Amino acid sequence: MNFLEEIKRRRTFGIISHPDAGKTTLTEKLLLYGGAIQEAGAVKNNKIKKGATSDFMEIERQRGISVATSVLAFIYKDKKINILDTPGHKDFAEDTFRTLTAVDSVIVVIDVAKGVETQTEKLVEVCRMRKIPMIVFINKLDREGKDAFDLLDEVEQKLGLRVTPLSFPIGMGYDFKGIYNIYGKKLNVFSGDKKQIVSEGVEFTDISIPELDEIIGNKAAETLREELELVLEVYPPFNKEEYLNGDLQPVFFGSALNNFGVKELLDCFIEIAPSPQPKKSEERLVDSKEEKLSGFVFKIHANMDPNHRNRLAFIKIVSGTFKRNSPYLHVRLNKKMKFSSPNAFFAEKKEIVDESFPGDIVGIQDTGNFKIGDTLTEGENLNFKGIPSFSPEHFRYVNNADPLKSKQLFKGLDQLMDEGVAQLFTLDLNGRKVIGTVGALQYEVIQYRLEHEYGAKCSYENLPVHKACWVEPEDPKNEEFKEFKRVKQRFMAKDKQGQLVFLADSAFTIQMTQSKYPTVKLHFTSEFK
Ligand code: G4P
Repeated sequence: MNFLEEIKRRRTFGIISHPDAGKTTLTEKLLLYGGAIQEAGAVKNNKIKKGATSDFMEIERQRGISVATSVLAFIYKDKKINILDTPGHKDFAEDTFRTLTAVDSVIVVIDVAKGVETQTEKLVEVCRMRKIPMIVFINKLDREGKDAFDLLDEVEQKLGLRVTPLSFPIGMGYDFKGIYNIYGKKLNVFSGDKKQIVSEGVEFTDISIPELDEIIGNKAAETLREELELVLEVYPPFNKEEYLNGDLQPVFFGSALNNFGVKELLDCFIEIAPSPQPKKSEERLVDSKEEKLSGFVFKIHANMDPNHRNRLAFIKIVSGTFKRNSPYLHVRLNKKMKFSSPNAFFAEKKEIVDESFPGDIVGIQDTGNFKIGDTLTEGENLNFKGIPSFSPEHFRYVNNADPLKSKQLFKGLDQLMDEGVAQLFTLDLNGRKVIGTVGALQYEVIQYRLEHEYGAKCSYENLPVHKACWVEPEDPKNEEFKEFKRVKQRFMAKDKQGQLVFLADSAFTIQMTQSKYPTVKLHFTSEFK
């Protein structure tokens, strides 16, 4: 297979959802289709169980498992499919945001009974802003839930999407009879048997014929005809261009647990979802078909074993072919590096590979050379954009609890921040270090890992900060900016890249500051240029 064919057959995507909507179950069913796993339950362990907020051992165990399931790859109908795992737990939302920089499309899973939930709203907003093509899968149709039209409305209103259903449920919960696949013009009847082998469905190009009544009953057939008519009237027709531009989102219905509606989703997905897309770098737009290698680090995973402090850096290949033992330029360090054992991911295993192509993820053993956002090329000076930090939601001073180990503490903190576990700020006034996180769980992870991997101890002190605001003055020399910095001196800090940050203690303070110093712009993400 030549290089261009390899690119064309790849589909790299992420599944996003609120916890418990069925992401893990759906992933597992998709893997079953690829023949990548033989039985259900193989991916199941990849979850931070509900309520396990302070069990570090559990966190560590889960981290170990999630290395294996960070990327799940399989072949289906000759397409190479890479699923990038996105943690559903809200404390790891930052991880998910970063992973979204490495996908070419996403599938959004929504629970039919719960509808659109908060975590989904946040994640979809990020995808919408980046114009990532999205397909929506409404799950758990075997349970009583909201009316299909109401749900479509909710998806439009709350997620700001423009939807078009490509399948439609016949009944729901106790009365769930099956799904009409609008895209493939087929009827699939639900048997309720969890182990059912999914049938190909019956061709049903014309739903007005009486056979429909025989299969699903008069009443259901009548309702389906009416509802499909309404679908045609109310929703825009499917248009692939619009989907690829992020302007139209197809919707499928099904039940992942019962493996129902999943094949329709997958068959449509491989047909319409984009192959590896061009990516913006600070310098230029890089096309996946370019023959020279480029790629960027979107995730770093620490080794579980304290005796081997290696980490695994996950690199998304943007263009060219990644070859084992070839020299590549680490742009930030301006250093040529060779990799003798790059890992590729396949189902829940990883193995050493000689070549990887755009869309693929390569795992590289790293002893501390990589940071999130780093770029590899064949010599060109490129820096990929779009790995922003968002304002953390929790802030604490970090103190050294063992004065003899301060070197270890700083090294540990430095490396953990490179991995993207949390964000570190240094106060301008006194040089004190502040750790900002998305969830309280990370403080325990940091404390535990500092002790076990670096032999350092830390303690925390609460800091009443509401949000970190990245500061952008219209003119760094103007009096207003100088006054702002003087008045807010106690709250000024630098992030790890040396960017100026204002640690605001309340939403009110932010509002007041903005009206008092209109030429000083405050941003809630580090990437505003
Ligand atoms: P997540 O990764 O999005 O957090 O969700 P996950 O797949 O783990 O699914 C959450 C729960 O919903 C699981 O039940 C799962 O079995 C169930 N589920 C998933 N898809 C369907 C579906 O189509 N219909 C029904 N009725 N349930 C579904 P659990 O009891 O929390 O876990 P388990 O005991 O099944 O492992």
